[in-house]
Amino acid sequence: MTDCQGDGEGTMSPMELFEKLNAQGEKVRSLKSAKAEKAEIDAAVQLLLKLKVDYKQMTGQDYKAGCPPSENLIVSNNGPAADDCDGEDLVDPWNVSASSTKGVDYDKLIVRFGSSKIDKELLERIEKVSGQRAHHFLRRGIFFSHRDMHQILDAYEKHKSFYLYTGRGPSSEAMHVGHLIPFIFTKWLQDVFDIPLVVQMTDDEKYLWKDLTLEECHRFTVENAKDIIACGFDVNKTFIFSDLDYMGASPQFYRNVVKVQKHVTFNQVKGIFGFTDSDCIGKISFPAIQAAPSFSSSFPQIFGGKKDVPCLIPCAIDQDPYFRMTRDVAPRIGLLKPALLHSTFFPALQGAQTKMSASDPNSSIFLTDTPKQIKNKINKHAFSGGKDTVEEHRKYGGNTEVDVSFLYLTFFLEDDEKLEKIKEDYTSGALLTGELKKILIETLQPMIAQHQERRKQVTDEMVQQFMTPRPLNYKF
Ligand code: TYM
Repeated sequence: MTDCQGDGEGTMSPMELFEKLNAQGEKVRSLKSAKAEKAEIDAAVQLLLKLKVDYKQMTGQDYKAGCPPSENLIVSNNGPAADDCDGEDLVDPWNVSASSTKGVDYDKLIVRFGSSKIDKELLERIEKVSGQRAHHFLRRGIFFSHRDMHQILDAYEKHKSFYLYTGRGPSSEAMHVGHLIPFIFTKWLQDVFDIPLVVQMTDDEKYLWKDLTLEECHRFTVENAKDIIACGFDVNKTFIFSDLDYMGASPQFYRNVVKVQKHVTFNQVKGIFGFTDSDCIGKISFPAIQAAPSFSSSFPQIFGGKKDVPCLIPCAIDQDPYFRMTRDVAPRIGLLKPALLHSTFFPALQGAQTKMSASDPNSSIFLTDTPKQIKNKINKHAFSGGKDTVEEHRKYGGNTEVDVSFLYLTFFLEDDEKLEKIKEDYTSGALLTGELKKILIETLQPMIAQHQERRKQVTDEMVQQFMTPRPLNYKF
C-alpha cells in the first residue's frame, strides 16, 4: 500500500484515490448535466480516466463506484441493510446476514476484505512461538483470518512485546455467549504470550446508536465489565476502560483521537460505514475513538509514552471496518498499523444465516440464562440439520454444516475426538437431533453456571481495580 508518510503529507492511499475518483465522476456528471463547454467536459473526463488507471495500478482492481478498495468495503450502519458489492453476504458492525443456510462464506469474505487466511503455516508458527498447542478456536478455523500476524510473531521472536486490544459495546446488562468468543480467545492469548491487554467499553458508541441514556450506557459498562473479568483476566495485566471516563482522563488518548479525526474525511467514513447526511455528528466521528486504543501512545501509564509497541486486536470480523480505517490512517499520523485476528460468528439459534442479537431473547443464549431457559431455548429454537422423521434420519443422516447444536459444540466442546465421533454419528443417522441437543444442553448448562459463579465473585472493588489507569506488569 502506498500510504502517506508523516503527519498529513505525501502520496495518496487507495481509499483517498477512491474518494477522488468518486468526486471526479460526480464532477463529470454535473458538467454534462449543466451542458458545460465541450473542452471543459473533455478535460474532466481525461482526468477521470487517468485516475482510473492510477487506481488500477495501485490496487490491482478496476474502479467501481460504490465498491471501495478491498481494505475499505462499504457497509451500512443503522439504515436498511446494504448489499455488498457482489449482492451476497452482508457483514458489518451492525448487520450480519448470509445468503446461504451454511452461513457466511468466510473464504469469500477474506478476499473481499483483503485480509489473509489463518493457514497451517501460521498455526504452526503460533504454536512454535508460544510453545503451546493452538487453542481449539484456531485449530477449528473459528479464528480464521488475520492481518499482519506474522509481523507480531517476528517481533515477539526478537523479544519485542506486543499488547492486546479488544472491546465491547455495552448495549444491555446481559451479554450473550457469542460475545464471549473474543474474550475467551483473548484470555488464552494473554496467558500464552504473557502480555498486557486493554479492553475498550464503548458506552459512548451505544449512547450514540441506541435509545439509551448516558447513565444507562455507563451502568452497562460496569455490568459487562464483570462478565469480562469473570473470563479470568489477570488484573496485573489488564486495563478495562469506559470511553465516557477515559476520554476525559487521558490527554494522550484524546490527542490520538483528534489525529485520526483530522486525517479521515466525511467521504471516507461514508464510504466505509455507510453514514448518511442525517446521521448525528457523534456517529461520524466515533470511529476515531475505536481506532485510538490501537496505538500504544494512548496509554502512557502502561507503555511510558512509547509509540511503537505493536497492537494485536482479536475480534469477530464484523468489527473489521473500524480497523481497515485505522490501518489506513496509521502511517499518515506516524503510528503503527494494528494487527488483527478475526473470528467467525457464533450463529443465532435460528441458523447460521445471522449472528445472535441481544435484542431478540430467543435468538441467543445469554450469560444470565438459567439451566431451564437454556434447555427450553435449545429444544424449541435451535435449527436442526436432521431429517423430518426418525426413519428418514436413520436412513439418510443429519447435516452438521447447518445444524446449530452441532455448530455450537464446535465452539464449546473442547474434546476433538468426542466432537468427531458426534459428527460421524449424526451424519450416519446413528445420533438423533434430540440426542444431539441433549449433548449441547449438557455442555452449555455447566459452562454458563460456572461463568455465573465466577461473576458472582467479582466485586465492585475488583471492577474499580481493573478500570483504574495504572502501570501493568509485562515481560519485555
Ligand atoms: P460488540 O459489543 O458488538 O461485540 C463485542 C465483541 O464480540 C464480538 N461478537 C461476536 N463474536 C462471535 N459471535 C458473535 N455472534 C458475536 N457478536 C459480537 C464482536 O466482534 C466484538 O469483538 N464496537 C464494538 C466494541 C469495541 C471493540 C473494539 C470490539 C470497541 N473496540 C476492539 C473488538 C475490538 C462493539 O460494539 O462490540
